[in-house]
Amino acid sequence: MRKKVIAGNWKMFKTVAEARSFLTAFIPLVEGSSAQVLFAVPFTALHAAVQAVAGSKIVIGAQNMHDAKEGAFTGEISSSMLKEAGAQFVLLGHSERRAIFHESNEFIQRKVKSALAAGIKVILCIGESESEREAGKTEEVLRAQLDGSLPEMQFADLDQLTIAYEPVWAIGTGKSATAAMAQEAHRFCRMHLGKKWGEERARRVALLYGGSVKPENCKEILAQPDIDGALVGGASLDPQVFAKIALSS
Ligand code: PGA
Repeated sequence: MRKKVIAGNWKMFKTVAEARSFLTAFIPLVEGSSAQVLFAVPFTALHAAVQAVAGSKIVIGAQNMHDAKEGAFTGEISSSMLKEAGAQFVLLGHSERRAIFHESNEFIQRKVKSALAAGIKVILCIGESESEREAGKTEEVLRAQLDGSLPEMQFADLDQLTIAYEPVWAIGTGKSATAAMAQEAHRFCRMHLGKKWGEERARRVALLYGGSVKPENCKEILAQPDIDGALVGGASLDPQVFAKIALSS
């Protein structure tokens, strides 16, 4: 049985002070949750967030990383910097990085490889746009993103990898995929990973759904057989709202 994972993606929200007060309010609310709760926080809030969750089971990570160890890459951040700040995982290939910052599968693949080599867990994000779905290309896009963004995986790396399926048209729009649609895409991803690595290995990888997850729709989504959790943007910014999601899995 894969444990349910509920991950908050704060995007470019929350200063250090805001992160501290959120976590202070949030921690007691989820004491009874059986899910693994994660937050991908802005770089500047990493250290404070790690300190704020000390003693709880909540895990803190980052939202992006460069693949190089160090170098002349103004504005970028390396795996060792993230590790030192206490990040245990990193989101890679989020659709906002792919679309707004033009990150390619090839670049994302290098980042995934570099994070795993540095001992940082990875949540790799994939997902089709609205026009791709309408053109019937969802599976083609997911296949290309999985093949293009994932490096060769060692057996030991599989437990360090989580994949988040986030249809771009559902992110921040309030328009979530139906539970059946999400399950279908997850089933496809697991089947494709099974072809690459063998079914046994594909079964070990946690697959999260993301895109307008909220307390009202999370139960049905999380009940699907190939959905192991949720990656939550907007609804992770309020402690009460996010706690409801964490408690309903
Ligand atoms: P949303 O964002 O929950 O606000 O749709 C999800 C994400 O981008 O990870």
